[in-house]
Amino acid sequence: MHDPRIIVALDVSTEHDLRELVKKIPNTQCRAKIGKELFTSVGPLAIEICHDAGFEVFLDLKFHDIPNTCAKAVRAAARWGVWMTNVHCSGGTDMMRSAREILEGEDHRPRLIGVTVLTSLSEMGLQELGVSRDLESQVDHLAHLAHTCGLDGVVCSAQETPRLRQSFGSEFCLVTPGIRPRWAASDDQTRIVTPTDAIADGSDYLVIGRPITAAECPEDAVARIVDEI
Ligand code: C5P
Repeated sequence: MHDPRIIVALDVSTEHDLRELVKKIPNTQCRAKIGKELFTSVGPLAIEICHDAGFEVFLDLKFHDIPNTCAKAVRAAARWGVWMTNVHCSGGTDMMRSAREILEGEDHRPRLIGVTVLTSLSEMGLQELGVSRDLESQVDHLAHLAHTCGLDGVVCSAQETPRLRQSFGSEFCLVTPGIRPRWAASDDQTRIVTPTDAIADGSDYLVIGRPITAAECPEDAVARIVDEI
């Protein structure tokens, strides 16, 4: 089966903007990511709009709650038919296991992945939260917990993929944001990696937003990225 490696971050906040945006993106080469801004603004209709436009959906709501609530949210996502969804690993192993187990009873099972340490957090930010490990070790630790709980993979920065790929093998799904082709502006992303390097380092899926969505011709931008990888 064709497995597009590009996940386009649809960071808009109205139904109108979403409908306009999905028209410009080739659904054969990309999947769609719905994040908190879009979902909170437009609701599950956003999923329906993406599905109707022929996209598989990564519902990026980063659930983090007591195990029962988190699992039921993950189940609700499954029932919307999404391709992938995620939880925060720092919600704990009971939470991750509950989320994975509830999917066993479902006809449709989205890939369930974990968020380790938000890439916006610095070493100091981690310490402030009472985490004494350094950032890399904390990422490794949380990825290990996700793997142990049977999650399908993690979201991580492209800089972390070689290490995580080596630790967890080829079946563990690595999803990486912060991707910038050489020809695109870096925007507010700092630790950026090109699509080619991200794939070479072991990323399975590349989350790319503005280089595609803000391009004059999103279809050309996608074609250039696909060529590159
Ligand atoms: O436009 P851009 O390519 O920077 O968009 C990247 C997308 O990935 C955004 O939706 C952003 O919220 C998300 N993301 C990120 N860095 C993370 C996790 C998610 O940029 N560490």
